[in-house]
Amino acid sequence: MEELLQQIENHKQEIAAFEAGNAEATEAFRIKYLGTKGLVKSIMGEMKNVPNEQKKHFGQLLNEFKQFTESKYELLKEQTSNDKETAANEFDWTLPGDPFPVGTRHPITLVRNKIVNIFQRLGFAIAEGPEIEDDWHNFGSMNLPLDHPARDMQDTFYVNQNPDWLLRTHTSSVQARVMEKQKPPIRVICPGRVYRNETISARAHCFFHQVEGLCIDEHVSFADLKQTLYYFVQEMFGKDVKIRFRPSYCPFTEPSAEMDISCLICGGSGCNVCKHTGWVEILGSGMVHPKVLENFNIDPNKYTGFAFGMGVERVCQLKYRVNDLRMYSQNDVRFLRQFTGAV
Ligand code: DAH
Repeated sequence: MEELLQQIENHKQEIAAFEAGNAEATEAFRIKYLGTKGLVKSIMGEMKNVPNEQKKHFGQLLNEFKQFTESKYELLKEQTSNDKETAANEFDWTLPGDPFPVGTRHPITLVRNKIVNIFQRLGFAIAEGPEIEDDWHNFGSMNLPLDHPARDMQDTFYVNQNPDWLLRTHTSSVQARVMEKQKPPIRVICPGRVYRNETISARAHCFFHQVEGLCIDEHVSFADLKQTLYYFVQEMFGKDVKIRFRPSYCPFTEPSAEMDISCLICGGSGCNVCKHTGWVEILGSGMVHPKVLENFNIDPNKYTGFAFGMGVERVCQLKYRVNDLRMYSQNDVRFLRQFTGAV
């Protein structure tokens, strides 16, 4: 019996010294000492070997041991469940959160917004039109009748179901939509996507973006066109940039002019971008053709107007020196991320 007493004493010491770091260790303690195959049960089993006259004394000792173990288990349980709560309470809720990654605006969007903002400051309102157009709004009303050779300048995607439908080749179609609904004075800026049946390369794409401008009122002159575009160029590219107009042909404006700006890359001394001329073309423009005004019942004897159309990709190329048009639609984040906070 001495041996059993010694065993109990050893276990008591072991149990007293037991420290549970967490709830799992507490559970391991329960299984080891109080489980169905645990130590307390097996020591209780020893009772049958105890001589009758000592049974009472041993019974008390064993009960005490059991209670001792149980209260230790209760204590451990309390400690480790407390631990959980304390850990939650000690969490510093004022710490900054994990950053949530957000995308960046596309360079075309940034440049388009900037162009639009500049003209808004001059009192131009935004106008939009559909990308799937009919022949009249894209060509006919813009003084390009069916047999007009200038239609070949813009390779057009037609919609199979209806030969009258096409993907607009320029945002000049929005001019038509505005004149249809609104009478002068008109001052609108029309940003949008346009489509042309071109082989995709670094210099051409089957879709790109334009911003169209239209201003119609009494006494609007070519001087107004020049000053408006000059203001735009200074706001967009800076005060030192020069502009020049070259006479050109456009069916819906007369006279028509293409506008160049002095090359931003070489400052006008000649480089690859300006093909050593010192000038880069950025838009087409002119005075709205009287026939176009008539198409929308606007009296050309009373009203005059100017119009212009520019490519957003071209402006973006000059501002950020992106020399391959395909990059705009490849969705390569290494390219797109470079424009964070630009413009
Ligand atoms: N629509 C022409 C193009 O896509 C650009 C253009 C030229 C627009 C002259 C105009 C303009 O409004 O007056 O190439």
